[in-house]
Amino acid sequence: MFRHFDRKKFFVIPLAFLLLSLSLSAVVLHSASAASSLAQAGAASGRTIGAAIAANLLGNNPYTTIVQTQFDGVTPGNEMKWQTTEPSQGSFNFGPADQIVSFAQSHNMKIRGHTLVWYNQLAGWVNNVPASQILSVMNNHITAEMTHFKGNIWYWDVVNEAFNEDGTRRSDIFQNDIGNAYIADAFTTARAADPNAKLCYNDYNIEDMNSAKSQAVYSMVQSFKASGVPIDCVGFQSHFIVGQVPADFQATLQKFANLGIDVQITELDDRMPTPASSANLNQQATDYANVAKACLGVSRCNDITTWGVGEPDSWVPGTFSGQGQALLYDSNYQPKPAYTSFLNALGGSAVIPTPTPTTGGGSTPTPTPTPITGGSGSCSVHYVVSNQWNSGFGASISITNTSSTAINGWSLKFNFPNGQTITQLWNGTVTQSGSSVTITNTSYNGSIPAGGTLNSSPGFNGSWSGTNSSPTAFTLNGATCTVA
Ligand code: XIL
Repeated sequence: MFRHFDRKKFFVIPLAFLLLSLSLSAVVLHSASAASSLAQAGAASGRTIGAAIAANLLGNNPYTTIVQTQFDGVTPGNEMKWQTTEPSQGSFNFGPADQIVSFAQSHNMKIRGHTLVWYNQLAGWVNNVPASQILSVMNNHITAEMTHFKGNIWYWDVVNEAFNEDGTRRSDIFQNDIGNAYIADAFTTARAADPNAKLCYNDYNIEDMNSAKSQAVYSMVQSFKASGVPIDCVGFQSHFIVGQVPADFQATLQKFANLGIDVQITELDDRMPTPASSANLNQQATDYANVAKACLGVSRCNDITTWGVGEPDSWVPGTFSGQGQALLYDSNYQPKPAYTSFLNALGGSAVIPTPTPTTGGGSTPTPTPTPITGGSGSCSVHYVVSNQWNSGFGASISITNTSSTAINGWSLKFNFPNGQTITQLWNGTVTQSGSSVTITNTSYNGSIPAGGTLNSSPGFNGSWSGTNSSPTAFTLNGATCTVA
C-alpha cells in the first residue's frame, strides 16, 4: 500500500540564517544541556518537533527521557482512535489518551489529536450501524471526543486516509453510507466542537505532487477553501522508504500551503531492510536531513512528528515484513546517524546527547518518599469516577499538599470498598493486593509544592462489578488526608 518513490537528489537550502533566530523561550522550556535537542533546534525557527507516543510506555526509560528532552510535541499513536475512545456506542473511554495529554501538558508539549474519522482501528459496532444513522454517529463521535479534549489539542487529524492511490475515494462505511460530503461534514462538525483547534486532513503517499492521490487531496482542499468548509491544515504522514523521499516534497508542501493552509509532517519514518546496512543508515541520515530542509523551506510547515521514538516502539517491523530501523533511535534507544543529520538540518548543534545506556524496557527509579509531617489534614484527595461502562471504569485522583512543607516523593494508599481492580494506571506506579492499593509517583511527578496540587495527577482504568463506590479514606506518605 505504500508506493515506492524514485530517488532523486534533493535541493539544498542555505540554513545559516535560521540560527540567528534561536528562541530564548524554547531554551527555557527545554532545559536539556546546550541547544542540542531536536525541540530546541526546531523552536529556533518556530517548528514543533514531535513524536508519536504510547501511554503504556510512559515511565519506561530511556524512552520517556528522550521524549521529554528531545521533543516538544506528541501525538498519541493509538489512544485517540475510535476503537479505543468509543468501543461501544455512546460509551467513551478517554483514559489512555488523558494519560498522554497530562504527560504532554506537564512537559509543555503540544498535542496533535489523531484521529477522529478513519476506516481503520474503527470500533466494530460502527460497521453495523444502519446507513441512515451513520452521519449522526460520526458527528456525535467527533463532538464527544473533541469536547472531552477541548482546549488541549493543537491540531486534530479530523479525517485520515480517505483516498485510494488512484485519487478516488476509499470505500468505507462513511463514504458508502454518507457519500462524498462526509469529509466536509466532519470538518464542519469539528470546527463547532472546538473552534480553537486547528483541523487537518491527514494521509500518506501525498508527498509527491505528481501522484494521483496528492492531486485528489489538493483538489478537495481547494474546493473546501472555495466553499468555506473549515480546514486549516494537511498532514503529510511521510512513511518513507530509505532513498525514496520524493525530490519534490518541499514543492508539494509549498503547493498545498499556497492554498492558505498549514502543512505538517505528521508520521515521519524511513524504513529499510533489516538488519540495517551502514549504506542504508547513511542514506537515511540524508533522507531525514532532506525532510527537515523541505519543512524549513516552507514557512507554513510548522511541525515535524516522527512516528515513534526508536526501533522498539516503531510500528514498522510489525507491519512491513523484514523492514525496520525507520526512526532516529536504534534498538537500544541510541541516536543513529539520522538523528545527528536531522538535528543539524534543523539548525541545531551536532552534539549527540547520551541517553541512559540500557537495553530498553526498564522503569525509572522513583525517588524515595519523604514522609510528611503534620498528620491528619496535611493532604487532601479528590477521587472522581470520570466514566463507567459494562465492567470497566475510569477514575482520576487529585492530590493536594495542604501542609507548609513541599513533598518530594509520595505514596498514596487507599482501599477499594467493592472489590474493584486497577487494570491500567498512568502518572504513577501501582501495586494492588486484594482491596488495598498503593500508588507511588513517577520520575516526573514526585514533587507537590506546599499548598499546591499535583500537576500530573494519577488516573486509571479499572474493573468493577455490582457496585462501584469510591474509596472513603486515603493516606499520603502515612498521613491521613481529607477527602475532598
Ligand atoms: C499505527 C500504529 O502506530 C500502530 O501501533 C497500530 O497497530 C496501527 O496504526 N497511519 C496512521 C497511523 O495514520 O494511525 C498508523 O498508526 C500508521 C499509519
